[in-house]
Amino acid sequence: MSPVINIHHSSSDSQSGRIPDLIVEDSQTVVIFGGTGDLTRRKLLPALFAMHYENRLPEKIRIVAFGRRDYTNESFREEMCSEIESFQRVKGSKADVKAFAEHIDYFKGGLDDAESFDRLSKQLDDAEVYPANRVFYLSVAPSFFGPVTTLLKESDLVYSPTHAHWSRVVIEKPFGRDLESAMDLNRHVLNLLDESQVYRIDHYLGKETVQNILSFRFANTIFEPVFNSSYVDHIQVTASETVGMESGRGAYFDTAGALRDMMQNHISQLLCLVTMEPPSGFSSDAVRNEKVKVLQSIRIPKLDDVRENVVRAQYVSGTMGDKKVTAYVDEDRVPSGTSTETFVAAKFFIDNWRWSGVPMYLRTGKRMGRKQTSITVQFKKPPMELFRTVECANDVCDLTEAQPNVLTFRIQPDEGISLHFATKRPSMHMVVEDSELDFNYAENYEGTLPEAYERLLMDVMRGDATLFMRSDEVEAAWRIMDPILQAWQERNARIPLHFYSPGSWGPLAADELFENEVGAWQNQ
Ligand code: BG6
Repeated sequence: MSPVINIHHSSSDSQSGRIPDLIVEDSQTVVIFGGTGDLTRRKLLPALFAMHYENRLPEKIRIVAFGRRDYTNESFREEMCSEIESFQRVKGSKADVKAFAEHIDYFKGGLDDAESFDRLSKQLDDAEVYPANRVFYLSVAPSFFGPVTTLLKESDLVYSPTHAHWSRVVIEKPFGRDLESAMDLNRHVLNLLDESQVYRIDHYLGKETVQNILSFRFANTIFEPVFNSSYVDHIQVTASETVGMESGRGAYFDTAGALRDMMQNHISQLLCLVTMEPPSGFSSDAVRNEKVKVLQSIRIPKLDDVRENVVRAQYVSGTMGDKKVTAYVDEDRVPSGTSTETFVAAKFFIDNWRWSGVPMYLRTGKRMGRKQTSITVQFKKPPMELFRTVECANDVCDLTEAQPNVLTFRIQPDEGISLHFATKRPSMHMVVEDSELDFNYAENYEGTLPEAYERLLMDVMRGDATLFMRSDEVEAAWRIMDPILQAWQERNARIPLHFYSPGSWGPLAADELFENEVGAWQNQ
């Protein structure tokens, strides 16, 4: 094991682990479509509760959960109180949760029913109860994005951008299932709303450790000069998960697959942040312009590139620890015989001045060895290998040599950043070994990191779209993924679907993406 040197932050105003938080100033009404759904219960209401508990919400706030089921305000609040208690990050008491729930109303309506939207509009007109600024959160199946935005406009629930009050519409993923459908959806939405009113969510951007990538890169002088093709050998992004298709997720997942579900959005975003040029500032457009430029520079894969540089695979049955798990094709609500991929690994190239010729390896999968999201930047070896020594013990000899420097952003879990570098092992010989500088959040900051949805809801409520996807960004990401989806569909292309055992790091074919190059996947 390499020696580890821990790093502790030294900034005095954050000694207590708490920097004064941002607050939402504008009173507002937040309408959640899909108000009885899983995301509302597990993420959105607990996030709003945490903001309320930490005094970050305005005094006048009303939350309206729009759903199809029968509830009264009281029965809905009661049920949500127990959900918030189980999923909250902060440690609020029952009384705290109950006080927050007083801000929630339930509204029974249909997502494609004009009469429901007219009724909602009349109800929200009561400005005494419902503050006039409005957030509409579309936590609904993608087939409802079109109808709900249309009805919001037709029932005058959304204002024009020049109105005295503001309205914002948050759209959950997936935003389209290919380039064409994403373009159609953008056209539809932008016919009704101004881009400044649209917030397309990618929850990875709300993660504290993801935002830290930009501070790490652009608040330090020592790393940026070596972040380019002269010094970097390759970059890897991994988002592996141990979960399979629990709670009936298979029904959705099988219509998407790992490429659409994770790579087109979360993983591409991570790649953008680690490779983009410095923005001119932190305005939402300055940051998003740079991300779009990187996406536009990624080489669009041709059929042969898909064959050589992209691996798709599916998990078979097996064991994870001492738990038996079924094959993907036998999972609940997954059609048997499906060829949807639960794993994808790909090698991409960014054809721009900074990254020309540097391979970018990306992978994601379900039922893998460990839940791990990380980005590693592997540097080139020094130009001359001065430190290659042969060490012998008994009859066994090993070649000891300096290992390349590796910088790792641990997005989750065990959040932190580490840098591997060579040091001399104390002895009479000149032998180098690998050491590690490590910064980790748990040791440096008290309490838990804010949930991604807290940060993102805060930004919507404050009108900051930096961490949301702009229309051109979504389309640029689809433009890269589309040829892969098409190649997989083309029978004559005969692109194999590989298989892997649960608990593994994917199929062997994914390791072979490194063929002829230095390096291998970092499976920490
Ligand atoms: C979602 C995907 O967007 O992200 C899921 O639809 C995936 O399939 C999830 O499990 C992973 O998110 P996190 O924050 O747990 O890494």
